[in-house]
Amino acid sequence: MQGLIAPHGGTLVNTLAGSAPGLPQPDALRREAAGLARVTLSAKQSCDLELITIGGYSPLTGFMGRADFESVCRRARLADGRTWSIPILLAVPRDSAPGVGARVALHAPNGTLQAVMTVNEVFPHDKALEIPSVFRTEDPAHPGVAQVQAEGEVCLAGPVQSLTVCVDPGGPEAFVSQRLTPAQTRAEFDRRGWKTVVAFQTRNPIHRAHEYVCKCAQEICDGLLIHPLVGETKKGDIPADVRMEAIGVLAAKYFNPQTTMVSVLPAAMRYAGPKEAVHHAIMRKNYGCTHFIVGRDHAGVGTYYGTYDAQKIFDTIDAADLAIAPLKFEHTGYSKSYGGMVSGKSYPKIEGDLINLSGTAVRDMLARGERPPVEFTHPEVADVLIRWARSLPETR
Ligand code: ADX
Repeated sequence: MQGLIAPHGGTLVNTLAGSAPGLPQPDALRREAAGLARVTLSAKQSCDLELITIGGYSPLTGFMGRADFESVCRRARLADGRTWSIPILLAVPRDSAPGVGARVALHAPNGTLQAVMTVNEVFPHDKALEIPSVFRTEDPAHPGVAQVQAEGEVCLAGPVQSLTVCVDPGGPEAFVSQRLTPAQTRAEFDRRGWKTVVAFQTRNPIHRAHEYVCKCAQEICDGLLIHPLVGETKKGDIPADVRMEAIGVLAAKYFNPQTTMVSVLPAAMRYAGPKEAVHHAIMRKNYGCTHFIVGRDHAGVGTYYGTYDAQKIFDTIDAADLAIAPLKFEHTGYSKSYGGMVSGKSYPKIEGDLINLSGTAVRDMLARGERPPVEFTHPEVADVLIRWARSLPETR
């Protein structure tokens, strides 16, 4: 696959038993796991493990040790100097921590055996270091902060040998056919002859503003990978199956299949704004993408981050090491006076000119069975969302 961008660290990690020389056979690993102490992962840890398994987190081959953790928090680099912005930890309650040298069986929240891990290191979970460094706030009302605060007090580190890439292949939100691994997206880019590929991260249905930035980016790259995140998200976000249905109808009608692919990213959201934007970019580099869209308040929540903080952080990151290029977009929307999509960069800002709807306003409209204006959302997308909104129990 010459010509595609190299994975972070140079080699695409793969820890799936039986899939490559040097990895154990699945049957033998399963037999061993049956006799091991069991660790039940949180949804976030289970997502992290899947990404380690498939190489989405290359060069990580397991959960982080103390040196990497501290280095990531203090200077946004792994201990070896490679850029990395978010700690990938396996934090467990102190009283359930195994000793160093132990082998443990890692189970997903639904009980599926996901991997076996060799515990190389057990170290304190320094939340006082992690939380402000990752989230730039210690406010417990921040969903990412609250999550870390609720996690265990000690961290287990060490390499994993995995048994599955998808914890519930029959589950309603498994998206099996769209769950392409980095090796699979890379093979598909290669087959299509794409050398430059822009990735679009989202945790929402694709509204017109999202679509506009995708199309602008598409003009300068060979291909577009629409890459919705389908791992754990906070309460209040639209469920992944609804988003995927909406994205499916949108992509089918409004994008060119020759230059567009849709597959899913099995990651959990942290809502860490700038630090998560870098994390999102690194994962997409591993999937083979050369460019990454960073719009307004990327991976933000509430008012914790400035509108363009997630863009500015890239000015502090070693661009040569990162290799994937951020494509930065200003706030875009439909301009009534212009009669089309614009940003503050392409058209003068006029008070009240953009059709801007808050999440709550959109939700209220959908619950009433009303389509938002076509300048905000295509009707096909609106109809999927209305069906979902009307199926919810009345909350007001
Ligand atoms: S995110 O958590 O995945 O960032 P969301 O799905 O809303 O949330 O955004 C996906 C991408 O689109 C992000 O890069 C975000 O910055 C960008 N984006 C969302 N809305 C706009 C907009 N109106 N103008 C420009 N970029 C936007």
